Parts: sequence; structure tokens; C-alpha cells
Amino acid sequence: MKKVDVILGLQWGDEGKGKVVDVLTPRYDVVARFQGGPNAGHTLEFSGEKYVLRSIPSGIFQGGKTNIIGSGVVIDAILFRAEAEELAKSGHDLTRQLCISKKAHLILPTHRILDAAYEAAKGSGKIGTTGKGIGPTYTDKVSRNGMRVGDLLSPDFPQIYARAKARHERILRSLGYAYDIADLERQWFEAVEFLRRFRLIDSEYFINGALAEGRSVLAEGAQGTLLDVDFGSYPFVTSSNTVCAGVCTGLGIAPNRIGEVFGIFKAYCTRVGAGPFPTELFDETGERLCSLGHEFGAVTGRKRRCGWLDLVALKYSIMINGVTQLIMMKADVMNDFDTIRVATAYEIGGVRTSEFPYDIAEGLEPVYTDFEGWKCDLRGCRSYDEFPPAFRRYIEFIERETGVPVRIVSVGPDRGETIVRN
Ligand code: GDP
Ligand code: IMO
Ligand code: MG
Repeated sequence: MKKVDVILGLQWGDEGKGKVVDVLTPRYDVVARFQGGPNAGHTLEFSGEKYVLRSIPSGIFQGGKTNIIGSGVVIDAILFRAEAEELAKSGHDLTRQLCISKKAHLILPTHRILDAAYEAAKGSGKIGTTGKGIGPTYTDKVSRNGMRVGDLLSPDFPQIYARAKARHERILRSLGYAYDIADLERQWFEAVEFLRRFRLIDSEYFINGALAEGRSVLAEGAQGTLLDVDFGSYPFVTSSNTVCAGVCTGLGIAPNRIGEVFGIFKAYCTRVGAGPFPTELFDETGERLCSLGHEFGAVTGRKRRCGWLDLVALKYSIMINGVTQLIMMKADVMNDFDTIRVATAYEIGGVRTSEFPYDIAEGLEPVYTDFEGWKCDLRGCRSYDEFPPAFRRYIEFIERETGVPVRIVSVGPDRGETIVRN
């Protein structure tokens, strides 16, 4: 019986998961998203074209593969329809390649409004969510009030919807939040009809069946470990389990069915939205990382905060996920840097620690190790041997510190700009 390999982010999201899933898809028969929703923005570039996927797995462009939106995902019918129609326009018909779990939860129009209302109520303590209704939808799931994709097949669908909407409206009234839902609701009902045309499946049976038949499965994470609802920088997190354990609960896979765990990280760090970020740079270097790395959100267009690589956080993420192989992204952004810094410990109140602390906001100072820049255009390199010695020293330091091999190095956004080490 085959196992499920996993690709997930080790930082605060936007590590480059979409690109790498696309690159690795030819090795697999099935690609499945296991959590998150349209808060994700996964960018792929090939043949001079650029695509941003939100709910649809990033295996969709490699032809002939089955792509699954798993049960741990939350779906907004309106955004899903827009995404699918955009792909259809560029010649990618999804109806045969894409299946959706009946157990995935539906994001209702009122969930989006609630997301905005809760953020407004938090004032200066707001999370900076993507505004896609993610938190309220997962809240309804856990409080046993959610609506699932499978409900679309029920004759009681209109009543289930009306009950959920009435409950949300009571909450919105109590928050004194003004809104107009009419247009959104009309679009949603049309989009729900569109969603019905897809294969709605019991994805846990589908995936376990595929494994039993010897077919290979790749699970695609969204967001990143430091945004995990249990292990991230709570409360500045998303509302799902982004970590490897989320593959089990989000696809119905037993823990002993997990195979390779590919952990993706940028050669520096970014974060979009509010919350602690120990190595954040507020100077010209931070601005350079942002402009050279085009660090603007794929979903909201917001400027991403930038900082140095944080090995304390990276090691924590590797531990939580059981990462077996590392994938390093975007080192090319630092091609011209004289010095590259990496945080190897934190100092808190004069005490040095290499552990990611419970409270990462208060009085924390990163301790840095400095590296000489490689001063060379990595985008021209096509094999590990072509990398300049200074860059290899940087990679090998990370491997020594983490005890995990860096097996793939990405040196540009295009599919082809990817170096897989043997
Ligand atoms: P995801 O959410 O993890 O899939 O990542 P995003 O797509 O949100 O953000 C990653 C961004 O970096 C996208 O704009 C990619 O096209 C781009 N990208 C990915 N890998 C590389 C790389 O190695 N070098 C550079 N310069 N850009 C990259
Ligand atoms: P991908 O898959 C980066 C952040 C938001 C906010 C917090 C909570 O592209 O890496 P939410 O809307 O989920 O309730 O917002 O999480 N966030 C992301 N940041 N990449 C993402 O996805 C993100 N999805 C959510 O900015 O801080
Ligand atoms: Mg993204």
C-alpha cells in the first residue's frame, strides 16, 4: 500500500507551495488539498503564463491527474466558480480532473460578513484576516452548525441555508454591524448550482482506495506552520490545522499512511497580516527583500512584512511536522546582498533560548549568525554543482542546524527554475 506524501509551509505562508506542488505532480497520480480555503493564493508560472490558485489544487496543470478538494477544506462557491471559469478560459477544463469532498464545509455569504464584523470588533487587536470568511466557517464546523458540500444534494438545502443565515444575522445584529447581503447571496446561489456539476465524493474512501491500488497521492498544504491554529503564533493564526497532522484529519488518512514530508521555506521570512515576527526588518534591507521578492499578497495584494531567516522557528516547524526533506525557495532574491543573516537563537530577558517560546511578542531579541553573500545570479544555475561556494555554505549550514537535507532549491518563479538534488 502506498503512502501519502505531504508538501507544507514551514513559515507564515506564501513559501512557494503552489510552484513546488506543480513541479512534483508528475511523480503522483492524485493531488489533494487538506485544509484552508480561498485564503490561500498559490502562484504557478510556466510557458510565460502566471496562474493563482485559491481552492483548486496545484496539480491541475499537469494533465491526467486527479485533483481533490478534501474534507478539511472550506469552499466559497462564488470564488470557486470564478477560479474554475478563469481556468476554463485558458483551456483547462476541470470537470473530469477535479473532485470535491462532500464533507468539505461551505463558506456562506454571511460568513464573509461575520469575518469583517469580528475584525472590526477587535479594533487595534485585529488579526488582519484575508476577509474570506475562513474563521467563522471553521467556527460553525466545530460548533456543529456548519453546512457541507453534501448538503447541496439534500432536498432540505434551502431550509438548512435559511437556518444558518438567520443565526448569523442575529450575531451581526448583536455586533451592530451594518451590511447588505442581497447581491452576494444571489451570486452565491448561482455559484452553488455551478458547484453541483462537479464530482462530489467521499474523499476518504477515494484516497484510501487509491493508495490500496498502488496509486500515489500528494497532499498540498495551505498557509504555513506558524499560522496553525494550535501551534502557530496564536491568536494571530488561521483557523485550521496547517501542520502534517491536518493531513490525517483533513483527508481521512491514518498517521501511519504518511510518507515523505516536504517542508518548504523561503531563504528569508515573510508574513502578511498582524502578529509577532521576531526577525522582521523595518529598514532598507526589509524594503529590498519586499521589492526584489515582489512580496505582495496573491489574494489581498497586501504588502508582506519581510525579515531574515529564523532557524529557531524553522526547527520548531520541522519538529511539529516530522519534515523529512527541505525545499528552499527564493534565495535568488538575495543575489546582490553583501551579508545575509540567520537567527539561530533568541534572547529573552538576557536568557538565550533555541526554543520557540509561548509568548513571542515580549522583549525578544534574535541572535544572528552572518553569512557572506554569494553575489551571483542564481537564476542562471541549473544544478547544485553550479551554485557558488558561498551559497552552498549557506545551504549546508541550514542542513547541519536542522539535521534535514535540502533536496530541492528553487531559484526563480518559473517551473523550470527548480533544482532537484540527487
Ligand atoms: P504559496 O502560497 O506558498 O503557493 O506562495 P505564493 O504563490 O503566495 O508566493 C510565492 C511567490 O514567490 C509567488 O509570486 C511565486 O511566483 C514566487 N516564487 C516562487 N518560487 C520562487 C523563487 O524561487 N524565486 C523567486 N524569485 N520567486 C519565486
Ligand atoms: P497561502 O496558502 C499567507 C494569514 C492572514 C492573517 C491570518 C488569518 O497562500 O500560503 P484568515 O483569512 O486565514 O482567517 O487569516 O492568516 N493568511 C495567510 N498568509 N499566506 C496564506 O495562504 C494565508 N492564509 C491566511 O493574512 O494574518
Ligand atoms: Mg500564497
